[in-house]
Amino acid sequence: MNLVLFGPPGAGKGTQAAVLCTELGVPQVATGDIFRRHLKEGTPLGEKARSYMNKGQLVPDEVVWELVAARLSESDCESGVLLDGFPRSVRQAELLVAWMKDNGRSVDCVVALEVPDEALVARLARRRTCLSCGGTYHLDHAPVRVEGVCDACGGEVVQRSDDNEETVRARLETYHKTTSPVLTYFEELGLAQRVNGVGDIQSISQRLRIAIG
Ligand code: AP5
Ligand code: MG
Ligand code: ZN
Repeated sequence: MNLVLFGPPGAGKGTQAAVLCTELGVPQVATGDIFRRHLKEGTPLGEKARSYMNKGQLVPDEVVWELVAARLSESDCESGVLLDGFPRSVRQAELLVAWMKDNGRSVDCVVALEVPDEALVARLARRRTCLSCGGTYHLDHAPVRVEGVCDACGGEVVQRSDDNEETVRARLETYHKTTSPVLTYFEELGLAQRVNGVGDIQSISQRLRIAIG
């Protein structure tokens, strides 16, 4: 099963991916997490991505695609994958669909989490993220057991540098302008389903299971 988990910043892609990947037995490929790993390690790719991420803009398609194509070719992705935060432009979606076809595979399902902008801003303002494993928390809805420490791996839990109000607004603008047409693209291919992303985390997981089938 090759699945795309689609949605605006803060929709709950990372939160739901953690649940779905375990249940489906497929790896999560999250482009934002990959960039943050490079940033932390100070690689040239991380340096390249930094300025775009901090401004809430998209990293250029060619840079993202090179990374995703390499990741999809790894053996653990052979029997399926869950894509989180990719594709984010129609160009990226076209590259993905063509790659799948060339490799005798297909995009099987696109599930789009729908959450109103104001709820997204509120979620991101109080999100906390693990520096080591990327685990996602929220001060009110999903707190860590011990302050500042990741429940899953013991890593340091902090606020992401792009989770300030100004950058969040810019990320939302980028989403509406450049990313939301990706949903139309997949709808025209008959692959996309919209899922209400408002409610408690377990109810949304259940809606996603039903949509994926
Ligand atoms: P990325 O890391 O992908 O960020 P994003 O898309 O902005 O999405 P988020 O990770 O912020 O949100 P999410 O949907 O995962 O929500 P989460 O589960 O954490 O990308 C970062 C940057 O990298 C981009 O801006 C861009 O520069 C670059 N980039 C990445 N991919 C790229 C690409 N393909 N092309 C070009 N550039 C790319 O949840 C959010 C919060 O809400 C958490 O605190 C969570 O606990 C809480 N929460 C979750 N569910 C609920 C609920 N049901 N109710 C209440 N709270 C909830
Ligand atoms: Mg995420
Ligand atoms: Zn962790």
